[in-house]
Amino acid sequence: MIETDDMEFAPRIITPDNTPEDSEIEITLRPQTLNEYIGQDKVKQNLAIYIEAAKRRGEPLDHVLLYGPPGLGKTTLSAIIAHEMGVNLRITTGPAIEKPGDLASLLTSLNDNDVLFIDEIHRLSRAVEEILYPAMEDRVIDIILGKGPSARSIRMDLRPFTLIGATTRAGQLSSPLRDRFGVIQRLELYNQEQLTDIIRRSSMILGIPCTADGAKEIAGRARGTPRIANRLLKRVRDFADVMGNGKITQEIASIALSRLEIDKLGLDSLDRRMLEMIIKGYNGGPVGLETLASALGEEAVTLEDVCEPFLMQLGFLGRTPRGRCATNLAYKHLGYKIPDNNSGQMTFGNP
Ligand code: ADE
Repeated sequence: MIETDDMEFAPRIITPDNTPEDSEIEITLRPQTLNEYIGQDKVKQNLAIYIEAAKRRGEPLDHVLLYGPPGLGKTTLSAIIAHEMGVNLRITTGPAIEKPGDLASLLTSLNDNDVLFIDEIHRLSRAVEEILYPAMEDRVIDIILGKGPSARSIRMDLRPFTLIGATTRAGQLSSPLRDRFGVIQRLELYNQEQLTDIIRRSSMILGIPCTADGAKEIAGRARGTPRIANRLLKRVRDFADVMGNGKITQEIASIALSRLEIDKLGLDSLDRRMLEMIIKGYNGGPVGLETLASALGEEAVTLEDVCEPFLMQLGFLGRTPRGRCATNLAYKHLGYKIPDNNSGQMTFGNP
């Protein structure tokens, strides 16, 4: 019981959500140019063309929507876009823009071709979203003055600007909003090689001695996410300082990550609890997401945004219309005997 309580309140080291500590380290480590940015090759190639074309025409870049799991570098990429375009970047989030007037004052304060970055854009209120439509399409905003029958609307011109919207849930965007983005790019989870390069780059910048094998060991357990890789690098450094001579080797990394309860593939205790619940509590599934979330005492969005993309990439979880299933690979990884006719196998890979 005590263990359950602990788990509920202990911050997960591998949650990709941004913490104040992450923001600090991310700003230090943030690459400034597309060339310095590792991974997401297709997105980079496309953006490089769009940026060059916009610059040649002396126009702002078309509005960009970046979507994909948290921690993959959407804010970093928008800072790079602003830097490459030679303009200012304003950063805000959907929930921070409470009233239409908040958005109007942001938009009217931009300089020519500036970038406005709205993180979690799926969380904008309807009223705020409606201000965005004419702003994105015609560079105007309609401001309502007064109330009731005497209310008047005045139209204000805006300077040319680029809106970059970021979301983990593209499906939750309304279609009028989605349709107003000229560039829509999905960010993918990173592979181990790319994460190794990111860790080596970060360790050089932070002055942390780290062997190639040490970086690879951390990369293999960072669930495809640079934010988690950089966070693990800092935690492993603590072990290297106290248990070794300060240098991160494969051995130190492996010991440290095991102590953090992150297994060889990067699963943490919540990932394992989720799979075990499906296997032991629901005979391998299918089980509905809400049922699973309440059985685990977790939010459904945490399971959906944080655990599922990674478990599905590993091929451990199948999603079917009737719910989630554990695959044979998940049974094997957790050391369970695979039942005959495991339903996860009928759906996984054969939608
Ligand atoms: N730090 C975090 N993400 C990065 C990336 N994609 N490239 C380089 N450094 C990073």
